[in-house]
Amino acid sequence: MNSQPSPHRFAPGTPLTGRIRVPGDKSISHRAVMLGALAIGETRVTGLLEGEDVLATAAAMRAMGAQVEKTGEEWRIHGVGVGGLLQPQGALDMGNSGTSTRLLMGLVAGHGITATFTGDASLSKRPMGRVIEPLSRMGAQFHGPAGGTLPLTMEGAHPAVPIEYRLPVASAQVKSAVLLAGLNTPGITTVIEPVPTRDHSERMLRGFGAVLEVEDAGNERIIRIHGDAELRPQTIEVPGDPSSAAFFAVAATLVEGSDLTIENVGLNPTRAGLFGVLRQMGASIEEENPREVGGEPVADLRVRHAPLTGTRVDPAIAPSMIDEFPVLFVAAALAKGTTVTTGLEELRVKESDRLSAMAAALESVGAQLEETEDGLTIHGTGGEPLRGTANAPVTTHLDHRIAMSMAVAGLASADGVEVDDTRPIATSFPTFRDLLAEASQ
Ligand code: S3P
Repeated sequence: MNSQPSPHRFAPGTPLTGRIRVPGDKSISHRAVMLGALAIGETRVTGLLEGEDVLATAAAMRAMGAQVEKTGEEWRIHGVGVGGLLQPQGALDMGNSGTSTRLLMGLVAGHGITATFTGDASLSKRPMGRVIEPLSRMGAQFHGPAGGTLPLTMEGAHPAVPIEYRLPVASAQVKSAVLLAGLNTPGITTVIEPVPTRDHSERMLRGFGAVLEVEDAGNERIIRIHGDAELRPQTIEVPGDPSSAAFFAVAATLVEGSDLTIENVGLNPTRAGLFGVLRQMGASIEEENPREVGGEPVADLRVRHAPLTGTRVDPAIAPSMIDEFPVLFVAAALAKGTTVTTGLEELRVKESDRLSAMAAALESVGAQLEETEDGLTIHGTGGEPLRGTANAPVTTHLDHRIAMSMAVAGLASADGVEVDDTRPIATSFPTFRDLLAEASQ
């Protein structure tokens, strides 16, 4: 990231029209690089997200012995085999990426190597105790600040000990860390999920040939991975990221006259919660050309402007739209009536405290809301534009999703919204502003 903040004013929008394609899914891209790096032979990946977070994963896998390079439109990964990761020479710089950090800690935990993880100011505040706890039970050792934050040095265990672990927080990152550690652990490692979270790791582990069983037991999911796995290289096409499509779906819904098709959007049910909530609020989002890409359900989304009505979001579906709440709050700020969200304490430990960051940002552009311990209650304008930034620009706290959500708020404002720093957008959606310009022509 450049050293100077890069502010930008997002002006009230012209309609969003035409067809756009958002970049590849961030979660799937991380996993494709990691599993490719553990397979023996050449894995080929198209549609990989080339955001800073995924590039941090790629650099870390190179530092641990894999070859990861781009040839034309395709990424080629030559893996080292499960158990074959090499000790990295320097610290692994995870930048802004919690997913890279937690999943890689899982990988290192099952190898007899030592690695140091560092990150930017945002990542260095985020809790790592949630992975330290299960991975320590498997035998890994951690050295670092008492609070369990980066920088951390860890020593993997070889052999690691298989565990049965019930997730205390609904977190796909914690689930994936334990499953990845289980790959190079003798016996069966078990994760129990009281609330389902994104299942890309399970799908892709199976695709690479790992033996993995998923049992639905009442409301819980029990996932078992057999250790000492051998992974076979794959050819993977990464579908478009629903979390990136979300900004355009809300923008097209809010800006009058819009009729935008977002192509190739991943609609895995563990990720697609936002689109259902928007429809429940009155949005017009049609799924065209449904198909399967890279083992994931995908469709083109045609989004037309529609007035929204406030809603109460069921906290049970929060994991399926956990990264989309910032932009849902923007939609709610323009809806008719009140939107109530609860059960969102996890938002306080994302790239920023997304409840307080969005409450402050939306209030500063004229929205009416109350922040509670675990959610926001938002009283919408009924379609009237928000005022926009009056004095100071909105603060994004090194959080890409706050920056892009407030960009969307700018499109639905009278005076535009000035965002203090657009640099973090490159972590997940480097082409965001280009696509916005393309759709707004
Ligand atoms: C992710 C899981 C989620 C999500 C993050 C990506 C993943 O985090 O917020 O952007 O790829 O597994 P949590 O596991 O902390 O909920």
